[in-house]
Amino acid sequence: MKKLTTTIFTLFALGLLNAQTIESPSKEVKVNFELTKNGQPSYSVTYKGKEIVKPSTLGITLRDKEALDNGFKVVNYTTKSVNDTWQPVLGEYKNIQDLHNEGKIELIQPATNRQINVTFKVFDGGVAFRYEIPQQEKLNHFSITAEKTQFNLTGDHTAFWLPADYDSQEYVYTKTKISGIDHSLIDMGNGISLKSIAKPDAVQTPLQMKTADNIYLNIFEAAVVNYPVMHLATNKSTYQFESILAPSAVGDVAFLQTPFNTPWRTIMVSDDARNIVSQGPQMILNLNEPSKIKDTSWIKPMKYVGIWWEMHVGVSTWDRKGSQNAQNQLGQEAIKFPHGATTQNTKRYIDFAAKNGFNGVLVEGWNTGWEDWAGNWKDEVFDFTTPYDDFDIKSIADYAKGKNVSMIMHNETSGSVSNYERRFDRAMEVMKKYNYPAVKTGYVGRIIPRGEFHDGQRMVNHFNWTAERFAENKILLNSHESHRPTGYQRTYPNYIAAEAARGNEFNAWSYGNPPAHETILPFMRMLGGPMDYTPGIFEIKMSHYDPNKKEQVHTTLAKQLALYVTIYSPLQMAADLPENYERYADAFQFIKDVALDWDDSKYLEAEPGEYLTVARKAKGTQNWFIGAITNENARKSSIKLDFLTPGVKYEAIVYADAKDAHWEKNPKAYQIKKIKVDAKSTIKLDLAAGGGTAISIVPIK
Ligand code: NOJ
Ligand code: CA
Repeated sequence: MKKLTTTIFTLFALGLLNAQTIESPSKEVKVNFELTKNGQPSYSVTYKGKEIVKPSTLGITLRDKEALDNGFKVVNYTTKSVNDTWQPVLGEYKNIQDLHNEGKIELIQPATNRQINVTFKVFDGGVAFRYEIPQQEKLNHFSITAEKTQFNLTGDHTAFWLPADYDSQEYVYTKTKISGIDHSLIDMGNGISLKSIAKPDAVQTPLQMKTADNIYLNIFEAAVVNYPVMHLATNKSTYQFESILAPSAVGDVAFLQTPFNTPWRTIMVSDDARNIVSQGPQMILNLNEPSKIKDTSWIKPMKYVGIWWEMHVGVSTWDRKGSQNAQNQLGQEAIKFPHGATTQNTKRYIDFAAKNGFNGVLVEGWNTGWEDWAGNWKDEVFDFTTPYDDFDIKSIADYAKGKNVSMIMHNETSGSVSNYERRFDRAMEVMKKYNYPAVKTGYVGRIIPRGEFHDGQRMVNHFNWTAERFAENKILLNSHESHRPTGYQRTYPNYIAAEAARGNEFNAWSYGNPPAHETILPFMRMLGGPMDYTPGIFEIKMSHYDPNKKEQVHTTLAKQLALYVTIYSPLQMAADLPENYERYADAFQFIKDVALDWDDSKYLEAEPGEYLTVARKAKGTQNWFIGAITNENARKSSIKLDFLTPGVKYEAIVYADAKDAHWEKNPKAYQIKKIKVDAKSTIKLDLAAGGGTAISIVPIK
């Protein structure tokens, strides 16, 4: 039901308009807008009466034109209250409420006769604002050299941060005070091949913080469209952050034409960490445009297996000659491994998927080009159409169809985007001819057009364009090494997942992801959209494949199960090898059972860097799934099942760490218990160091 009330104030006495306050519906969050003495727009934010953002100025600088950052007058102010409910195609919640108050401040710069608006939306969970540049006589085509949006904070908060890097978000999160943000704390030998640090000690968004009086604050953005990604320059002594945008190859950050709206800059705030991870993603979605795809009936969740982890652990290769896998990183040709993407091996995975109820099979290394694919900034690496001679694409397509399994196309571009765009239609023809309803794209390496960054306007447009083109062809998109999502999957719901953070793969061949990693992801990367994290690794230690290997997944096996619930995604991989699942069939049952699409999600416990427990109700059923995870510290807690339907009896299967489990010393020790529960029950959780618990709860018929 849509309920919209609009109130318009037009005040003629200009002086009265120079300061405005916009409150959230609960009145707990307030934004104060003000023009400074020299006519510069400025805002501040309070939460429950406390200042959380001090007066912070706004502005944009332009190439060869006067800056849009001072000399303004307010000419009009309008407000609007929105209370709307909508249904995402796939999601954490069946219904999403968009409840906020809006204030639009219309500004004119009399000296140049140009206009801009600053629009604020104030939700109970935080504030969003953007610059709107209307169509006007004095400003048509223009290019932006910098956006000068400030976030002036009130103290030396604890911060979880990633270094601002225009090409990668695949870093480990670092936790320090704002004053302690220091890039030299980062171990750069972290498995990331391409690093393009924006500025010393600058950080990425989202930036999650906690104040001394336990208020959680998060700076992020929503609806990044035709504009670069926002990073933040850090002033460690004044606790000020200012936007930095990834530049284009020629320096300017965005090439635009009026009318144009920037992405929304967001500040989430709450004194309960659970609100950041529950309300935050909904606020980001609310700030994006509704679906542009009219018929969404073909957009379905996917649980998949694939010829993938094999290459990461070094069992097989991407290339036909047999030298390219993630364990032989120099691709030394003297070392030979079998090629992974053979017809026979693919059929084995299709059989495994069909037997276990998975609807997708990804095959990497099916096409020519992998002999020389990475690190050379080479234009023509892949043609996206020619299978290797041992991959019979036609017979595989027929075989998959016969088993009711969908093939997932893999288009690794190695960063050569101009080549991919040139060949895109031909790549799509292959997908259509052989019935691939989904594609995983990849952008490992420096971008071509040379000089562009993954986070720049050119690449944002590329990623969004692929979503649009795949939508026209009813193909689901999962992008790796793309810019991190900012809710655009509301507009193109076929953009079903992205990687865009440090995934499980780093555990196979680098020092990996510390046990706290997955407790921080929901406060950072997950705020913007679903992640293809690729959980479900049962053979935790790489010594399983090579006794000399020290690398390992930094969780227990039970925590790998819990990640299917804590990391929201309608696309989930069972990432380990089929033979590894066959040895732990009882634990594998959880991956087979867990749902991918939800009516509701209840974040029961959350603290960034420490723990997270979430219960989710599977869409259209009475089944619930719970995931609980901890960091390197063991943790006990108990959770009330009062969200279950009163009077209904359920069977809960609890997949827990065994008493002696430990992510490093004994990661594969788990225990499975079946218990009867109802809405009055409490379940005790006992998580090992680096551990977790996964629970399925199904009504007893
Ligand atoms: C990096 C991706 O994240 C990974 O999933 C993929 O296997 C390799 N690139 C090769 O495309
Ligand atoms: Ca990756």
